[in-house]
Amino acid sequence: MTTITDTDPREAFAERLLEDVTRSMETLSVYFGVKLGLYRALAGVDGATERDIADRAGIATRYASEWLSQQAAAGYIDCDNPDAQPKLRRYRLAEHSAEVLTDPDSPFHVAPLTRMFAGCAGVLPQLLEAYRTGGGVPYEAYGVDIREGIADVNRPMFLHELAGWIAAAPEVEQRLRSAPSAKVLDLGCGVGYSSIALAKAFPMATVVGIDLDAASVAQARETAADASVADRVTFVIGDAAQVGAGEKYDLVTMFETLHDMGNPVGALRAARSVLTAEGAILIADERVGDRLTAPADLMERFQFGWSVLHCLAATLAEDPVEANGTILRTPTLLRWAREAGYTDSAVLDVDNDFWRFYLLRG
Ligand SMILES: C[S@@+](CC[C@H](N)C(=O)[O-])C[C@H]1O[C@@H](n2cnc3c(N)ncnc32)[C@H](O)[C@@H]1O
Repeated sequence: MTTITDTDPREAFAERLLEDVTRSMETLSVYFGVKLGLYRALAGVDGATERDIADRAGIATRYASEWLSQQAAAGYIDCDNPDAQPKLRRYRLAEHSAEVLTDPDSPFHVAPLTRMFAGCAGVLPQLLEAYRTGGGVPYEAYGVDIREGIADVNRPMFLHELAGWIAAAPEVEQRLRSAPSAKVLDLGCGVGYSSIALAKAFPMATVVGIDLDAASVAQARETAADASVADRVTFVIGDAAQVGAGEKYDLVTMFETLHDMGNPVGALRAARSVLTAEGAILIADERVGDRLTAPADLMERFQFGWSVLHCLAATLAEDPVEANGTILRTPTLLRWAREAGYTDSAVLDVDNDFWRFYLLRG
């Protein structure tokens, strides 16, 4: 017979897995709050009942009731009196959670990560098949939740930090601020928040954003028009590795995209071919360790999660020369830079929890 003691490592691991699944379900419950506008509804009323939330968000009251109780149980929102009948309870966003859940400009706005997670959940059958066959799952198959989830979680960084990243390369910053008008190429631009932020931070510069994903480019064009920068920011559908001949650029940027590309050395080589003599490439990619550690820290585990659920499969769908996955380690990136012909590669001194920054020249 198997005996279980308080210190039994099997019990400890079983508890950990139970907690992991609980947190995953809570993650999806936040997705419901984001997608259905339930947090927005809560933010608009001081002490909302289940009926208030159902009416404001246009959902069924019974679901609103269950979701509100669950959110309070999870510690995401406050409930004035858990002992009251459900329909009489009043709920509020908790002080610590309001900004994180509802303010798209806040540096703490990580709620869109739940959309990325849900986007991965939506393609689980295709992912299982890809694991068996070695094929991929195209980026577009992950749908709007991946596309907008990534964009919305990165947006506050572009809004608040981008100018500081450029300032870490003073010659680049000076060029962007001087005449004649500097030209910037933003490869793997997604829905274009980085391209737009570049144009706003450097009013003399013009920016071209390129992305393989047609839906991202369509959204980027609309966003640039809404932001009144469409005269200086244009977007093109294309593969970064195919960029070439014609226009020269003072700066090429790649924000959290190099690890996703099916031909990363080709993309770096192509970027080098379109640089002006003094031009440079600024890359931001995941801040992971130089080698595998096991067990690893939270950031490494976080990035590995996206790798097994999304990045590797999306890259494999590009019919790749190389499928790196999310974990782009510094030695790999510097090797790719050498292979692409760069003679001057540096890690920039930029403080950021998620990304590490590289400047390539030569
Ligand atoms: C993680 S998203 C980052 C998007 C954006 N840079 C941001 O920070 O929000 C990666 C992007 O790389 C794009 N991508 C992947 N492979 C590409 C390629 N070969 N050429 C151009 N874009 C590519 C994807 O379509 C996606 O928009």
